[in-house]
Amino acid sequence: MNHFIYHNPVKVYFGKDQLCHLGEELSKYGKRVLLTYGGGSIKKIGLYDKVVNEIKKSGLELYELSGIQPNPRIDSVRKGAQICKDMKIDVLLAVGGGSVLDATKYMAAGACVDFDPWDFFSKCAPIEKALPVITIPTLAATGSEMNDGGVISNPETKEKIGRSSPRLFPKVSFLDPTNTFTVNSYHTACGSVDIMSHIIEVYFTPEPDLYMLDTVMEGLMRTVIKYAPIALKEPDNYEARANLMWTSSWAINGFIDGGKQHEWSCHSMEHELSAIYDITHGLGLAILTPRWLEYCLDENTVGKYYQFGTNVFGIDPKIEPMTVARKSIDMLSEFFFDTLGLESTFSKIGIQEEDFSFMAKRACGGKIIKGFKPLGQKDIEEIFKMCL
Ligand code: NZQ
Ligand code: ZN
Repeated sequence: MNHFIYHNPVKVYFGKDQLCHLGEELSKYGKRVLLTYGGGSIKKIGLYDKVVNEIKKSGLELYELSGIQPNPRIDSVRKGAQICKDMKIDVLLAVGGGSVLDATKYMAAGACVDFDPWDFFSKCAPIEKALPVITIPTLAATGSEMNDGGVISNPETKEKIGRSSPRLFPKVSFLDPTNTFTVNSYHTACGSVDIMSHIIEVYFTPEPDLYMLDTVMEGLMRTVIKYAPIALKEPDNYEARANLMWTSSWAINGFIDGGKQHEWSCHSMEHELSAIYDITHGLGLAILTPRWLEYCLDENTVGKYYQFGTNVFGIDPKIEPMTVARKSIDMLSEFFFDTLGLESTFSKIGIQEEDFSFMAKRACGGKIIKGFKPLGQKDIEEIFKMCL
């Protein structure tokens, strides 16, 4: 295995009734709070009132920015950064799904620079400072609450670009599974696929594995496979929602990477789909991931699939490895498309072949994605065709 540094500074309050600590945590950073949220789900679920009450009780000044959309737009980031500057905001409080959290991280960074925040993405402008961010995630999926990344879309250029910086780790995150009871079936399914994909993209890499981390990843994947269907049937099942929520954070907070250096394969491909077609991230991943696994399977890689099939899906280890490998891909597809009920092909969601070449070129940036198998533009086009 490779050597590595692990440092995750996010303080987590997990469970019900932890919001009483919100005022004390916000107050550590100042008085002026910018509350950010999406299209209104936090009002419907009563969380908005609770948050505002805590803020007011603590004598803090409240400012608001709402309307952050799924696949969050750079315009929201620009607006938020400007409010931070104009109102001399001390701390941002992001309440919502990953889109709200991601946009807020870049508002916090944008507040500290004189240039357009899109430069963080288009020109890789340095992120040297950011205002503090506290998060209250309401959907189990992206892990943004416990990592330093964010993905922002620019509809003018039809780009969706992810970037990370240690300055963007939230200071504190409040993870209350009850806040996810109202997430509908579709977004519960997409979120569950996203969690699975974050793990699969690390599990299936050519880098040396650490047994301990492989077993953790297998346990995390089994957790999603066990609890996502329960959350779909019983949306207010606390145990199911709690397991999904904590798994989503640990799937992408750096822990499972160990010293593995890897590039994102399915994620790079998916971001092009949501950039152009504005689809839900997890849906794109559901369609791509089994095809990508199929594309990467050969005599050299089969061992990892065998491990996956036997340890995650419980396939009989006595069966010949290539058969286990194929069966594991089938079982993953069944989980995404039958159990979670997501659409299974590009044609069903309107993604057209005429865009493949353009999207494939951008997905790999005209180079090679160094993932489980190196992927160039032609490989990606092939995978897209398998998704039709
Ligand atoms: O906007 P509102 O009204 O809040 O509704 C949202 C939105 O329509 C709704 N929702 C959220 N919590 C709810 C709820 N509805 C009812 N009850 C609740 N408790 O769900 C819809 C989707 O929300 P969104 O934030 O877009 O979903 P998600 O958390 O899956 O975030 C997806 C975004 O995160 C990026 C994706 O690319 C995508 O843009 N990612 C971020 C990552 C990161 N920061 O590390 C990594 C991921 O791989 C991913 O790329
Ligand atoms: Zn993802």
